[in-house]
Amino acid sequence: MTVGVDENRRMDVGQLRDTLARLAGDGAESRNVFCVSATAGTTSTGSVDPLGEIAVACEEHAVWLHADGAYGFGYALVPEWQPLYSGAELADSITWDPHKQFGAPIPSSIIFARRSEDLLRMAIFSSYFNREDSAEPNPGLKSIPSTRPLSALPLATSIRYLGLSGVIERLRKPLVVIREVYDYLEGQPDIEVLHRPDTGILCFRVVPSRLAKERVGELQQHIYETLLRGGKRSLSISELDGEACLRIVALSPAVTVEAVRETLLQARRIAEAFH
Ligand SMILES: Cc1ncc(COP(=O)(O)O)c(C=O)c1O
Repeated sequence: MTVGVDENRRMDVGQLRDTLARLAGDGAESRNVFCVSATAGTTSTGSVDPLGEIAVACEEHAVWLHADGAYGFGYALVPEWQPLYSGAELADSITWDPHKQFGAPIPSSIIFARRSEDLLRMAIFSSYFNREDSAEPNPGLKSIPSTRPLSALPLATSIRYLGLSGVIERLRKPLVVIREVYDYLEGQPDIEVLHRPDTGILCFRVVPSRLAKERVGELQQHIYETLLRGGKRSLSISELDGEACLRIVALSPAVTVEAVRETLLQARRIAEAFH
């Protein structure tokens, strides 16, 4: 079952509450809900669901709250962005992929559990391995893989090398660039901005005034493909409200407002030549 989003593409807590109440009732929709899956940085728009409010609703219904922070949870380290993640500590579990922005080689994925004993649910005990009565620390009790390399090492090395302030600086850069690009695009008559960006992703459409409404989706696809064929710059493509849209994804700390504006200029040129 899915729950709708608000104008910034964050989970609509009112709708979540209504849905949980309906499912908890004894009507035709009655269900035994075990988990709400929220997102701290959605794939399409980078929006961060209001985790604190969602956690309260989940608590009231005794439902497990998982937050998918694969892309976005790392940005909670940037002080100015921290309020966006308030309540994350109330989630029962959160996943995070440092391979997305931390330069850690793929795969580097972490699961956080609010209560450490919940991780033990994944443990398998036997008389010859992971003995329940063992007093020795045993990482096998905390992870699904057993004989595997120490996967935390590349991440730990990268953080030690950059230092926490270096890490934060690298994370902040694309966030600031996307905010600036948003401020610029908001005032452009030929651009439809589709949400206020929470993180480093911004979705929009190029909508020249002469273009018939029915061809808006087609134009976004055309811009995406033409840029890609050019081989120098790229925008991503997605779909919001049933219509194609373009998507800027800024991940690298080397990104600049000028570089993004140059890509936008080229997108507009392609739109001008579109008939
Ligand atoms: C919100 C979210 N969850 C999960 C994933 C999957 O990531 P991966 O397959 O790299 O672990 C992505 C990928 O972009 C994502 O944005």
